[in-house]
Amino acid sequence: MAIRLDVSGMLRQAVPTGPDAAALDALAPQLVAAVASFESRRSAGVLGFRELEAQAAERARVLDWAASARRGLDDVIVLGIGGSALGAVCLRTALLPRDWNARSSEQREGRPRLHVLDNVDPRSVAGLLDLVDLARSRVLVVSKSGSTAETMAQYLLVRDRLAKAGLTAREHLAFITDPEKGALRKLAAAEGIPTFDVPANVGGRFSVLSPVGTVPAALLGLDVQGLVDGAIAMRDRCTSSALRENPALAYAALQWHANESAGQGAHVLMPYSDALRDLGPWFVQLWAESLGKRRADGQHVGPTPIAAVGATDQHAQVQLFMEGPRDKTVTFVDVESHPDDLPIPHGDGAPADLAYLRGHTFGELLRAECRATAAALARGGRPTMTLRVSQVDAWHVGGLFMFFELATIYAAGLYGIDPLDQPGVELGKQLTYYQFGHPEWQGMREVWEALPASDPNWVL
Ligand code: PA5
Repeated sequence: MAIRLDVSGMLRQAVPTGPDAAALDALAPQLVAAVASFESRRSAGVLGFRELEAQAAERARVLDWAASARRGLDDVIVLGIGGSALGAVCLRTALLPRDWNARSSEQREGRPRLHVLDNVDPRSVAGLLDLVDLARSRVLVVSKSGSTAETMAQYLLVRDRLAKAGLTAREHLAFITDPEKGALRKLAAAEGIPTFDVPANVGGRFSVLSPVGTVPAALLGLDVQGLVDGAIAMRDRCTSSALRENPALAYAALQWHANESAGQGAHVLMPYSDALRDLGPWFVQLWAESLGKRRADGQHVGPTPIAAVGATDQHAQVQLFMEGPRDKTVTFVDVESHPDDLPIPHGDGAPADLAYLRGHTFGELLRAECRATAAALARGGRPTMTLRVSQVDAWHVGGLFMFFELATIYAAGLYGIDPLDQPGVELGKQLTYYQFGHPEWQGMREVWEALPASDPNWVL
């Protein structure tokens, strides 16, 4: 069981833009400062995502409740958006067989399907609610703030459908929200709905190992303890201010350095694994919403994360990575063992042109392609890293979540911004509230009316 980060492809020995030994030494004061900024956040108590021991009692409550709540369930539906949704999608893809929801109950060994409704497109909302039998479903309303418009609209619809079907909210809903604040918390108390706490010091995009991820995982019978153990093992490897001893710091520092010193601010994450394909969107949200900020000195900073999947994207985005602007770094995730690996058949009568495939497996082909793409990028002077993961299971997935969360906090120290807020999304939310007549936001009228209107002469 191991997750190893190979950063050689980021260094001067591999690519002309990478730091050499002297440049790495020169980074030391900034690394020390990034670790100090991490430590001051930790001691201020705002990095609750890493305090997994403190969440043990709530986790035990989740497991206990799920053991009985999952009986007789066909469907678990997550209503949530952003950090309240992407972790559950990633867990489903990583830890359940492919196309889980398309499998029969027998193939699922009686475990439920998992749907994540992370948009308010009526096509998806109606499509899903028409598909499932609410009488055999548990709907998880996931919102840290307990007030997000998209999730609340979905909740109102489900509540209405439950009432119309004569089903009780307490048996078919569960809330995952802040321990004290927000509309869901109030409703939970009033209506006796099972409710699990997202610790006050854990924000949405850092919440996958809180009940936001563990409630759906437990209802699906996934290895919650394995996730947590893997995350703790990674956390405990990532404390030093020495680059070689702290993989999360090394990732953060080299990505930041590439951005600052070589204009390589597009950070691609490319797992060579279908099981890890939804790690990409989860990482994109974490890296983008945490690091894309206006700094106190007025500078706009932050990388642009990009999700790709190997080998699929070798036939889509890799051309851009190889020959497009030199503004990218690519991080591969190479899975060393595929327990369900398949030999590539090459019996009598197979075309001679395809003989090179003989004696190999699909897993070997995937890994060979990963190595080949990394080598080709390096040859073109493009910086890469590789995360080597022994296999895809709960322990390693927990470790990957923790790795990227810690890296995000270190990167924030280097960029000089607050990774835990998201002021840039507020104005859009307020203008939505204004349009819907929300009484608290009618003061936005002036802003709304001062916006440049669409010019009919330029509507083509
Ligand atoms: O990462 C974040 O904080 C956000 O993306 C939130 O997860 C998202 O806005 C949903 O918020 P909430 O969980 O409060 O409904």
